[in-house]
Amino acid sequence: MKTDVVEQIRDRIDIVELVRQYVPSLKRAGKTYKACCPFHQEKTPSFTCSSEKGLFYCFGCQEGGDVFAFLMKMENLSFREAVEKLADMAGIEYQPAQQLTAEEQRRANVRKALDFARKYYHKLFFSRAGDHARAYVKSRQLTKETCEHFELGLSPAAGVLLREAKQAGYTEADLKDCGLCVQTEHGLREYFRNRLMFPIINQRGDTVGFGGRILGPGEPKYLNSPETILFTKSSVLYGLNFAGPAIRKADRAVLLEGYMDVIGCHQAGIAYTVAPLGTSLTSQHAKLLKRYTQNIIVLFDPDEAGLKAALRGALLLLEEGLFVKVASLPDGLDPDEYIAQYGKESFEKILDNAQELIAFALQRQLTLHPSLTAQAKTQMVTELAQIILIQPDPIVRREWVKYVAESLNLEEQLVLQRLEQMQRAKNFSNRTHAAATPSATPAQNTSSVEEELLSWVLKSPQHAVLCSELTEQNFSSPALWQILQALVKTHLAHPQETDLTNLTAQALPGQKNEIIKLALLPTPKDFDPARDIAACAAKLEQAGIQKKLQAVTRQMKTYGTGQVPPEVFQTYMQLQRKLKKYRS
Ligand code: GTP
Ligand code: MN
Repeated sequence: MKTDVVEQIRDRIDIVELVRQYVPSLKRAGKTYKACCPFHQEKTPSFTCSSEKGLFYCFGCQEGGDVFAFLMKMENLSFREAVEKLADMAGIEYQPAQQLTAEEQRRANVRKALDFARKYYHKLFFSRAGDHARAYVKSRQLTKETCEHFELGLSPAAGVLLREAKQAGYTEADLKDCGLCVQTEHGLREYFRNRLMFPIINQRGDTVGFGGRILGPGEPKYLNSPETILFTKSSVLYGLNFAGPAIRKADRAVLLEGYMDVIGCHQAGIAYTVAPLGTSLTSQHAKLLKRYTQNIIVLFDPDEAGLKAALRGALLLLEEGLFVKVASLPDGLDPDEYIAQYGKESFEKILDNAQELIAFALQRQLTLHPSLTAQAKTQMVTELAQIILIQPDPIVRREWVKYVAESLNLEEQLVLQRLEQMQRAKNFSNRTHAAATPSATPAQNTSSVEEELLSWVLKSPQHAVLCSELTEQNFSSPALWQILQALVKTHLAHPQETDLTNLTAQALPGQKNEIIKLALLPTPKDFDPARDIAACAAKLEQAGIQKKLQAVTRQMKTYGTGQVPPEVFQTYMQLQRKLKKYRS
């Protein structure tokens, strides 16, 4: 039954369509589709996926697999959760088996406990005990509807939540796992007490944690749930669960600083706004936003700290291939305050007039270097070139060069030269860095022949017999040799199969990703399986003989003239003859 559902999902869900929901930039390239990988940072696409095979693979970070693997990785789900979600998408009835793994059980418990707390806090907020909390949000101009929409809550005084939750059947372990209680030397204590509570809901609609603002004076002003199995601060944006559709519709997203800013904007009808959880922006945030739009406006505090944070965040977004603009509000006002004072239209005008990142950076340089001496110009171009280098789009890059040159009254050529210099320095340091890492394979040459051979045999298993002369010694990569063995065995067991990717991966689960990668390698235009596989195998055989020959030659040199034992000399002659055969 279960494998049945899995097979049905495989049949019905096109991996390209699934991936496209997360990676809108997916483009056709021959038989496969390509894009910049959603799982690691890159500027040129090495992420490949194929409808025909139902697989994806990234040549950059080596992630690969089927629709299930993709969703598990993308949404951080267990296999079962991925099956449920995909079954839902495919319109397949699926009753999950009752047996959860220990990990899934813990996650389910945490989810339930957080839901319980969210509802409890919200109820308390609207009860008599919440009078002061409601008075506070009223003083911040939040309406009752807004409080309901964001499910604002109140955490009670010490001990109350613990008691209520236990009565409702939650264990101490559940309450610790979900971050609502912490173990102290005086026993289990509640993390949030008498705070205005903001449920943090991820883009899937799951409550993953809370932010809590102090009511009245005191420290710290805000407290966030600790990280748990469901909650990673660096990958959640507050408000995204509500903002998602609005961002798609407006085709832009605004990054604000805090909870109250987001709530204030949404209340005013500007729902394409989100905020990180008081932490700096990460590439995960950028990837998350990229699923909704390419256009991001960073709204920041116009003080020095805000300026720096805005620039840092903007560069990170830029690196992910997003188009970034920056804006700030006058008079040190927060968005909610600004909207209350000047209205929604005026606020949106500020967003519409947001500055291009390069203009923002240039203006900052101009304030740092008030007199435009030659030395100042050099420093400024160097600083700005660092930003231009991050811009992945060549057309925008060119525009930026022009802009900087014109603004500083320099020839474009000079800016371009500096850019090239810096690019070379960057490449060089990347390269030396790559060479120093042990994962770099020295035997690039034969190993790519090995990969080619395997990828072709995967696609034409009936020609596997052409590899029968090969031995372990012919392979520089033990993993590839292992795959070839599994492949030949699988072919013998399933002689009719025309594509052995899945079966071989099943036979060798440890090499699954490698096998998928091989299956997705492109074949040459005029691919002739018999001819090309034979040629490839011959190349490897020849390389193997050459290696042996070198070893024997070395061995012969250790003997004096005329002292070489006859059997060694015979081996040498045999190898020479074999090699000649390949050359002729
Ligand atoms: P209000 O003061 O209620 O208007 O909140 P705000 O959102 O305007 O706060 P502020 O601009 O001071 O901070 C922005 C965001 O940074 C907040 O929403 C929090 O996420 C975070 N933050 C602020 N103060 C603290 C703190 O003391 N601790 C932690 N962990 N986060 C904080
Ligand atoms: Mn504020």
